[in-house]
Amino acid sequence: MPSLPSTAGLLWLCLSCVTSQEARLDAREEVVDRAMSGHLGEARRARDAVVGGDLAGAQEALATLRGRLPLGSLAPQQARLEVGFIQAVEAARATTDLPALGESLGQVAQACGACHLAAGLAIPLDAELAAPSATEPGGGAATAGATVAARMDGHMWATEQMWAALVVGDDIAFQEGAEALARSSLVPSGMPADAPVPPLAAELEVRVHDLAALAVRSPEARGRHLGQMLGTCAQCHQLLGTGPARR
Ligand code: HEC
Ligand code: HEC
Repeated sequence: MPSLPSTAGLLWLCLSCVTSQEARLDAREEVVDRAMSGHLGEARRARDAVVGGDLAGAQEALATLRGRLPLGSLAPQQARLEVGFIQAVEAARATTDLPALGESLGQVAQACGACHLAAGLAIPLDAELAAPSATEPGGGAATAGATVAARMDGHMWATEQMWAALVVGDDIAFQEGAEALARSSLVPSGMPADAPVPPLAAELEVRVHDLAALAVRSPEARGRHLGQMLGTCAQCHQLLGTGPARR
């Protein structure tokens, strides 16, 4: 007479199968987690290279990011979303000048956010993800009267907030980043005549703020406008022969 497995035996079989499935899922999640910190770092490096006017540096960071794609360990729904993301990265890599690269890079950041939102992920905008220092330079107080370098720290902080907000898909945080940018303006009254920089540079500063405002108002084209803003930061740094890369 064939011996039937005992109840305890069945229970064990069932548990071990669930456990091994969980282990597989855990391993997959760990791979995605690691990939995401790579994505985060390279996208940021590319962004900072654009602001500093370093086309080659931005392309190098994008090449590293592209080398990891496609991620084999994504769930099927996310793997489908990754197709659009890869297209955005490819479009950025195909550009040959800084303004075009900036513009496509903003669209890459928006594609990060599109996948996170579609996957229903609520990634917290913590210090690690956003600006390196969790508090705005000057504590959010008006920076009028501060040195250009101090206001530039404000520009960078605000840019990082807007960027991180786009990556996690947080509308409110994006708007807060844009408000922080406005507080660090080099042209407090909106009149280029008040600016501590030459008139042509002051026009670029006005354009930076216009693009930030445009990005807030147009969620669909947010990445594009934020990217155009990064390119405009770079234009002024190139014009004045200064900026983050020169220090
Ligand atoms: C095709 C989908 C997809 C794209 C595109 C994508 N991500 Fe993610 N991302 C995920 C998933 C899934 C997770 C959740 C991982 C987990 O299970 O913890 C995640 C989580 C994250 C996290 C949270 C921290 C962590 O490690 O879990 C960060 C940060 C992140 N992604 C950054 C980025 C950046 C930056 C980009 C674009 C350069 C990007 N991601 C593009 C799917 C995507
Ligand atoms: C009107 C021209 C102009 C625009 C527009 C501009 N910058 Fe600058 N930036 C400067 C100048 C000038 C300096 C050098 C300041 C100094 O060292 O005194 C600088 C320096 C910097 C620095 C280095 C600051 C430091 O502490 O060393 C950062 C970071 C920076 N800019 C970020 C940005 C970002 C981000 C944007 C766009 C959102 C931007 N800048 C737009 C003119 C500009």
